[in-house]
Amino acid sequence: MNFEKKVIIISGASSGIGFGCAKELLDAGAFVFGIDLNESVCEHTNYKHIIADVRDEKNIINAIDLIDGVHKKIDGLVNCAGINSCKKPFYDMEKDEWDKVLSINLTGTFLLSKYASKKMIGQKSGKIVNISCIRTKIFKKNMAEYSASKGGIVALTSSMAMDLAPYNIQVNSVAPGLTYTSEIKRIFEKHPELETEYTNLMPQHRLAQPEDIAKPILFLLSDNSDYITGQTIFVDGGISIAK
Ligand SMILES: NC(=O)c1ccc[n+]([C@@H]2O[C@H](COP(=O)([O-])OP(=O)(O)OC[C@H]3O[C@@H](n4cnc5c(N)ncnc54)[C@H](O)[C@@H]3O)[C@@H](O)[C@H]2O)c1
Repeated sequence: MNFEKKVIIISGASSGIGFGCAKELLDAGAFVFGIDLNESVCEHTNYKHIIADVRDEKNIINAIDLIDGVHKKIDGLVNCAGINSCKKPFYDMEKDEWDKVLSINLTGTFLLSKYASKKMIGQKSGKIVNISCIRTKIFKKNMAEYSASKGGIVALTSSMAMDLAPYNIQVNSVAPGLTYTSEIKRIFEKHPELETEYTNLMPQHRLAQPEDIAKPILFLLSDNSDYITGQTIFVDGGISIAK
């Protein structure tokens, strides 16, 4: 896919799936703006990094203005910033713990999409890709606030798609299965038996690498997906249809 001269914003670009997307897009010729709480190790000439918190509306307004000021357009947005569950049953969860996950995973996606789409509406084109999760279909104990945030992403994606359809802007989400990112690798280093257990559950007998998730995201950012909107695509190696 060719992203020559396309301007793409990625939140959560410093690591994991967001970093994988940035690499794929830069290889395909895009200008990439990464937004993250943390610094980035990416040194590509077409990559610019902005330190910002997706929960902070002022941060987001400033970031979008800065990006728009450079290229005068925004072709795509990937809302990849996210955190995992606090890993407690919902009845032991503090409100702060609930709020933290909802505010980053769901409200952060809303805020960044709101200000990026205002620019896209003006140019009458754009693509937004949100990140949901397999945990909206296959549930696990102690993940209520995370699953709620990712279920919210499914509904937000379709709702945003309806609002933006008149402006030729497509909004979709990708729901990854377990993907080798730093947190998952840390867990597997401590508990190698879990890696074997999860791998054996997979119809394709392997877990995802960040590029397995990034490639369908690139498809949804490209012209090849112009007639797809409001959908959540499960990128999970088939685990959600395995039972
Ligand atoms: N790794 C998996 O197995 C998996 C599976 C399904 C869904 N997901 C989702 O994919 C997305 C990316 O996750 P990942 O696994 O690559 O994790 P990751 O921790 O490697 O990357 C997440 C990035 O988001 C950034 N971030 C966190 N809070 C932020 C905030 N408030 N403002 C700005 N940036 C912030 C982090 O600094 C980090 O760089 C998340 O939404 C996650 O829920 C991951």
